[in-house]
Amino acid sequence: MIRVDNLRKSFRTKEGGVDALAGISFEVRQGSFFTLLGPSGCGKTTTLRCVAGLERPDDGEIVIGDRRVFSFRERLFVPGNKRDIGMVFQSYAIWPHMTVFKNVAYPLKARYRPRAEIREKVDKALQLVGLDALGDRLAPRLSGGQQQRVALARALVGEPQVLLLDEPLSNLDAKLRNQMRWELKELQNRLGTTTLYVTHDQVEALAISDQIALMNRGRIIQVGTPQEIYGNPVNEFAADFIGAANIVPGEVLEPPDAQGLARVRTPLGELRATQKGPLRPPGQRVLVAFRPEEVSISTEAGSAPDENLLRGEIQGFTYLGESTEFQVLVGDRKIQAKGEPAQALRRGASVYLRIPVGDCLLIRQGEV
Ligand SMILES: Nc1ncnc2c1ncn2[C@@H]1O[C@H](COP(=O)(O)OP(=O)(O)O)[C@@H](O)[C@H]1O
Ligand SMILES: [Mg+2]
Repeated sequence: MIRVDNLRKSFRTKEGGVDALAGISFEVRQGSFFTLLGPSGCGKTTTLRCVAGLERPDDGEIVIGDRRVFSFRERLFVPGNKRDIGMVFQSYAIWPHMTVFKNVAYPLKARYRPRAEIREKVDKALQLVGLDALGDRLAPRLSGGQQQRVALARALVGEPQVLLLDEPLSNLDAKLRNQMRWELKELQNRLGTTTLYVTHDQVEALAISDQIALMNRGRIIQVGTPQEIYGNPVNEFAADFIGAANIVPGEVLEPPDAQGLARVRTPLGELRATQKGPLRPPGQRVLVAFRPEEVSISTEAGSAPDENLLRGEIQGFTYLGESTEFQVLVGDRKIQAKGEPAQALRRGASVYLRIPVGDCLLIRQGEV
């Protein structure tokens, strides 16, 4: 388990100060895979370095397992080498002049463990990552994927309570990245090690995580399962950062009814949209968001009672193999819709768009 409470960190720079972390809190449950996801510069690495003891926060508290490792109030700071963690960085940081075996053995050597124990644990760690045949090889004579595995074995060799991973796959090519993603997830499942993972790649985060904390500008915007983060973004930033989304401004005409459906005036016309966050009174400026794959496109007007019906004109489309992306002009707004490739819809065709009211989400404006 990892618990982070109201963590703050600023850096002094020549230009003044940077608030890298503006007070973040989250909890990683025992044995789970938790991802910090967000754009470059949002504070992911700083958070991880604080948990690892490589950075001293300006405020807050950090607990790893049943042990408090940092408390600003109590002036407690357990140094990194006394925290029960394993860490892998983006640049693998393995030593080129050492063999694979010695690289992985290093953390145990540094703790003066007996030789027999080192041999046993290193063999086990190399086996875990599928490198047991390469122990004697020099580290530079390995492929990128193999070097990454060495770094992972080195992080695991001390059997740490928690594993901290900072964009460990981003230096690999796309195919290898997919494979390593799957292997990493599988390994984590098998070992049950509580894992805090950092990435800026939404697809990776959705694929690999039990829970995601979406970050922006030193803050956590939303925490949830991949399904919650994708299906129920809380604001403009969340809807826009994860996957594609149509986002239109609007004004609440009628607050949510018993089913949680509000009426909203938008440039697309009046829409019914589902409200999950706090109540918004009539007159309130909001946004309505819906994903391209929720939009059905057809030349027939018929719609069910639980759908919003829009009328538009096809401006263009992109064939993607398993689907086709349509750009449809509705009023003066361009809407994205995803359809079957077989749909014979020409440029300039007049079409109807149907969007289930449950998939039209009322969200708040803003980046944080
Ligand atoms: N040592 C440092 N000195 C000054 N600014 C830093 C330092 N480390 C990070 N920052 C700044 O803090 C912010 C967060 O950085 P970081 O945590 O590395 O973001 P991320 O990992 O999400 O890309 C950025 O604006 C970055 O420039
Ligand atoms: Mg980073």
